[in-house]
Amino acid sequence: MEYQIPRGTYDILPAQSYKWQKVISAFRELAAAFGYQEISTPVFEQASLFERSSGDSSDVVKKEMYRFTDRKGREFALRPEGTAPVVRSYVENRLDIGSANAKLYYIGPMFRYDRPQAGRYRQFYQYGIEFIGSNNPYYDAEVIAILWFYLTGLGLQKLRLELNSVGCPKCSVDYDKALREYFKPHLPQLCPDCQIRFDQKPRRLLDCKVPSCKKIASGAPSQLDYLDAECREHFAAVQEQLSLMEIPFVINPRIVRGLDYYTNTAFEVIYEGLGAQNSLAGGGRYNALLEQIGGKSIPALGFAGGFERLLLALDEEKVSLGRPPVPDIYVITMGKAAQQLLLPYINRLRQAGIYAEYDPDKTSFKAQLKAADNSQARFALIVGEDELASRSVVLKNLQNGQQQTTPLEPLSELIAILKG
Ligand code: HAM
Repeated sequence: MEYQIPRGTYDILPAQSYKWQKVISAFRELAAAFGYQEISTPVFEQASLFERSSGDSSDVVKKEMYRFTDRKGREFALRPEGTAPVVRSYVENRLDIGSANAKLYYIGPMFRYDRPQAGRYRQFYQYGIEFIGSNNPYYDAEVIAILWFYLTGLGLQKLRLELNSVGCPKCSVDYDKALREYFKPHLPQLCPDCQIRFDQKPRRLLDCKVPSCKKIASGAPSQLDYLDAECREHFAAVQEQLSLMEIPFVINPRIVRGLDYYTNTAFEVIYEGLGAQNSLAGGGRYNALLEQIGGKSIPALGFAGGFERLLLALDEEKVSLGRPPVPDIYVITMGKAAQQLLLPYINRLRQAGIYAEYDPDKTSFKAQLKAADNSQARFALIVGEDELASRSVVLKNLQNGQQQTTPLEPLSELIAILKG
């Protein structure tokens, strides 16, 4: 074949698109019920936006970003994630003016030059929430609640919400020091990447997938023992709010998020049964990010999840997402005059929201009836010679074979039957 789809990407084929529509509309509806509004930003941004916000120690930015130079020599990147662009837009459009918090959601493609495998792509679709404006732990729980209710509402059960606090920059200084002290004697045994992590961001040593590093990391000190009083209090309050909202969670002090902007609350939803790519969604607070990219100091938090993994999990748990749409009617005409009579009516039915299939290439009654059966339409709408003379149609219920004759005018009667 001359042309092939780029590695790590995929087509959403028509037979699958109803599943996407279902999970997307479920997210939109739930976000709206919490008062969140949609925001859309471009798929490319200045590369430095991500470098400055998402961090120099994160693989997402260091190794996986699609960077390009445009014709005028400007450096851009396909967005690897949605948070920095949303924050950029918030600052640039002065959404902070007025007293209201910004409650935002987004849906769209992200790009990472990752090693493709099940649940991991180079172009993938995220659903995400960003809440900007308050440090109240209630909002930590609210944002987590949206994620939790979304996933459980779709019917997933094998979910685990993991919660952690990565503290504020002040507590991080002490914690990084403790980690370096712990890892120092093991340095020669660590992988080359971890040697760099040791200098740059020791916290990432906890996230290495190399078995020998993992073993060493298992004895490392816990982040939670290095939180200052304020961060400890915030973390306790988030847990309390989650309990009040009846959202089950487990504390995992080893959650290390892949991006660098997190402060305090960090969380992930894990789905048992997806193999290595078992993180369905993740997020946390990023109280320092707005200031870092040129805005005022305003606290914020959010999460994002990938639709691909979500669909894999739904498949694995055999959750039905409905089925592809089937026609309400399949139109069968006998002869040219019947065709001509019916054409405007077919379109009027479609304008009224009735899904009507019609194929002018099929002319014999037998071929049309067979096509009607194959289409799984609810009704065949048939116009033969008698109906042509009386300007009526025969509606044949294709499930039970029952027939009724109905006049074409007023069309509202036919619409009422079809919608009933
Ligand atoms: P993240 O953990 O990098 O966070 O990604 C969030 C989710 O996106 C993952 O849990 C996973 O479901 C999906 N995902 C990530 N990479 C891939 C990939 N290569 N293929 C398929 N799915 C993928 C963020 O992106 C943050 N912006 C989340 C956030 C929002 N934090 C605060 N606000």
